Amino acid sequence: MSKLENAIPGYQHLVIEPYTPNIGAVVHDIDLAEIDAESVRAELRRALVEFQVLFFRNQNLTPEQHIAFAKVFGDPDKAKAFFPRHEIHNVIEVLEAKPGGNRFGTDQWHTDITFVANPPTGTVLYSRIAPPSGGDTAWASGTAVYESLPPALRVYLEELEAIHSFEHSGWPPYFERLPDGEAVYRQARADHPPVVHPVIRTHPVTGKKIVYVSPNFTDRIKGLPRQESDALLAFLFARFQRPEFQARLRWEENTVAVWDNRATVHYAVTDYGDQHRLLHRVTFGEDKAF
Ligand code: SIN
Repeated sequence: MSKLENAIPGYQHLVIEPYTPNIGAVVHDIDLAEIDAESVRAELRRALVEFQVLFFRNQNLTPEQHIAFAKVFGDPDKAKAFFPRHEIHNVIEVLEAKPGGNRFGTDQWHTDITFVANPPTGTVLYSRIAPPSGGDTAWASGTAVYESLPPALRVYLEELEAIHSFEHSGWPPYFERLPDGEAVYRQARADHPPVVHPVIRTHPVTGKKIVYVSPNFTDRIKGLPRQESDALLAFLFARFQRPEFQARLRWEENTVAVWDNRATVHYAVTDYGDQHRLLHRVTFGEDKAF
């Protein structure tokens, strides 16, 4: 293991460099294709809940190794979005933006797939082709947002639940551009009626409180008049936009990002025009928010 002056102490196997004070870390000197030792795998799980999003540069993974890495954290065969799948490995979603091609509607803050009762625990995103500039991804910490709120507001929010819905999502333009998009969209809406999650959830490992709403999937707060719900959600969504609570990754080819989907929202910055961008995505685990 190399020496790094600001490496986090207390990890025996990982060289971890904080990315920002509130969220994110880079893990150095690790080959994700070969992490068989349970001691290393346990530290990776610990680091993920501690830092909420981890970045690994210069990784060369086959699709099988990408899936094996996701299995360190959870079962990859759970809830998926509506993106194209890898031709051989169905659990890999292929996010490919080509000149003139479709876009994925991920340029809104969201926690993955909260329109289902048990959203994924996390996601491993692996860049195969990165634009020379642009196409970053940003994550924001729901824990940091919660901790920034006035105590009286925290108490009020902890009593509330929110409706999350597929229909509310920013996906219609994505479906409209698919050859059979109208039928797929209709079926997806029928398959995914709205669900209810707490507005403030508790992390099952750290016990920390997390603001658990996002503009892409949270439609409204249960029991509040629409205007009050919209105003309260707008206030919370604005907090996620504070750069202090964010980590923004400049992708290079062969970078891996893994995030704790229970504690974060993320945003794919769609500023790269017609440049080619290709990522492979594996969501893992499932989780009932409480
Ligand atoms: C996602 O929302 O999972 C995709 C993020 C990205 O394309 O940067």
